[in-house]
Amino acid sequence: MAENPASELIRVAERLRGGRRVVALTGAGVSAESKIPTFRDAMSGLWASFDPQRLATPEAFEADPATVSKWYDFRREKCAQALPNPGHLALARLEGLLETRGGRLDILTQNVDGLHQRAGSKRITELHGSIMRWRCTRTNARADDLPMPLPSYPMPSPSGGWYRPDVVWFGEMLPEAALAAAWEALEGCEVFLSIGTSAVVYPAAGFADEARSRGALIVEVNPEQTPLTSRADVVLRGLSGVVLPQLVDAIMDARMA
Ligand code: OAD
Repeated sequence: MAENPASELIRVAERLRGGRRVVALTGAGVSAESKIPTFRDAMSGLWASFDPQRLATPEAFEADPATVSKWYDFRREKCAQALPNPGHLALARLEGLLETRGGRLDILTQNVDGLHQRAGSKRITELHGSIMRWRCTRTNARADDLPMPLPSYPMPSPSGGWYRPDVVWFGEMLPEAALAAAWEALEGCEVFLSIGTSAVVYPAAGFADEARSRGALIVEVNPEQTPLTSRADVVLRGLSGVVLPQLVDAIMDARMA
């Protein structure tokens, strides 16, 4: 993989150094170096004969809550065992740097693994929920401290419903509060980082255009081309666990210069 020209990295670092409002949209690629199995990778071994799209819908849960609960509990355990990687940690450092100058970094993540939180980031909007939490089918009350593994599949909630994973399934709307937080973050955005996402799933896929309409510099961090690449102002090719620490180091270097 070719290294990014230093000038591109410095260009982004300079903008981040001068900027106060930064938004990072993150996707599965950010967690790849933490060995979080992607949706499809998770369908191996015991689960090889299942179709992920048939396990990640409200209809699937209604038809077979035991199997769906068990699959999500298996994935919850994989996420709990994983560790944040240098990409997650660099974003937490970036948030700290911006904060000391009265700025802010909002992470809008499509990931459900909770690794941004564990890396120390604070301003996080979970667009697709969290696999680490469960939610009562009757009251929508959330529970993030259920035993691992669950004692039964499915697990009954105290109010007579069942606990389902607190994630957005195919065919479901994104949580309203998360969407509102995302649009608020995009207002006044000066630098928009699209990191480790294929940038095809809406509404997240439209965030870059929204940021651009507000004058933000659009930066893509990804080892591969995506539908956003041709519309990005700067493309930093590479793994987020490599590129993001370089970027934060470049901001620090610029501070000392
Ligand atoms: P995708 O699996 O669609 O895309 C992952 C992106 O990460 C690709 O563009 C890869 O090139 C890139 N990538 C891989 N390794 C990387 C690394 N180490 N560093 C940086 N980038 C890397 O994942 P998402 O874009 O997150 O929705 O997918 C969005 C949504 O589609 C998911 O949240 C899920 C799915 O359907 C729901 O579950 C609702």
